[in-house]
Amino acid sequence: MSSTTDRRPLSFLVMTGSRRADSFNTKLARLAVDAVEANGASAAFATIRDFEVPDYDGDAERSDGIPPGAERFRERLNDVDALVIASPEYNASVPGVVKNLIDWASRFRPQPFNELQVLLLSASPSMVGGNRGLWALRVPLEHLGARVYPDMFSLAAAHTQLGEDGRIADETLRERFEANIVNFMNLVEAATHYPCVKKAWVEYLGERPDPAFDRIQAETR
Ligand SMILES: Cc1cc2nc3c(=O)[nH]c(=O)nc-3n(C[C@H](O)[C@H](O)[C@H](O)COP(=O)(O)O)c2cc1C
Repeated sequence: MSSTTDRRPLSFLVMTGSRRADSFNTKLARLAVDAVEANGASAAFATIRDFEVPDYDGDAERSDGIPPGAERFRERLNDVDALVIASPEYNASVPGVVKNLIDWASRFRPQPFNELQVLLLSASPSMVGGNRGLWALRVPLEHLGARVYPDMFSLAAAHTQLGEDGRIADETLRERFEANIVNFMNLVEAATHYPCVKKAWVEYLGERPDPAFDRIQAETR
């Protein structure tokens, strides 16, 4: 077993799910990058715009393969120990662009979300802070075998909380945000060095085990 001092720093990809130039979620993602770096790990920032993909189309996948935007996303995921997503809430759910990118990336084998540690953040001018969108975002990620951290951070009234200086205005919320990030980092540290014994990700459970329709990935990350 290696000692703590031998360990390489953890690396995180922090992605905003908003395309908007003045996005609250992008501001929150930037704060997450700062918090990760302040606590001794490396953090790379990305926006959903870095991974533009067309609407998922099974015929296009068959004729042209998985698009380059999804390939870039997969490469960035493979480079890091964990993913942080700051996503808007649209109509009490996950924005289509975020789900569409997940759908495309899920077509790779090995499937890149399997056993990936993920933290979900959201920001919204509303009083729910986009939290319902994060519950919706958990579903595809957990289906794909991601380890979605139980504590999510949703910043309500983001238009008043994210001021000119880019910080969260309320001190208690600011401390909670930092603590949420640090707690997640501690779990990623543990999970990276003490991986679980999961041996396979099963995409569909057949009524009876049958290779004709079970889609099972035996490799682990
Ligand atoms: C199509 C659409 C649906 C929305 N639905 C919700 C919603 O259900 N809950 C919410 O809190 N805000 C909702 N909003 C408002 C967004 O939270 C707000 O536009 C926010 O600024 C988006 O995030 P961004 O600033 O990171 O782009 C919606 C906005 C759009 C465009």
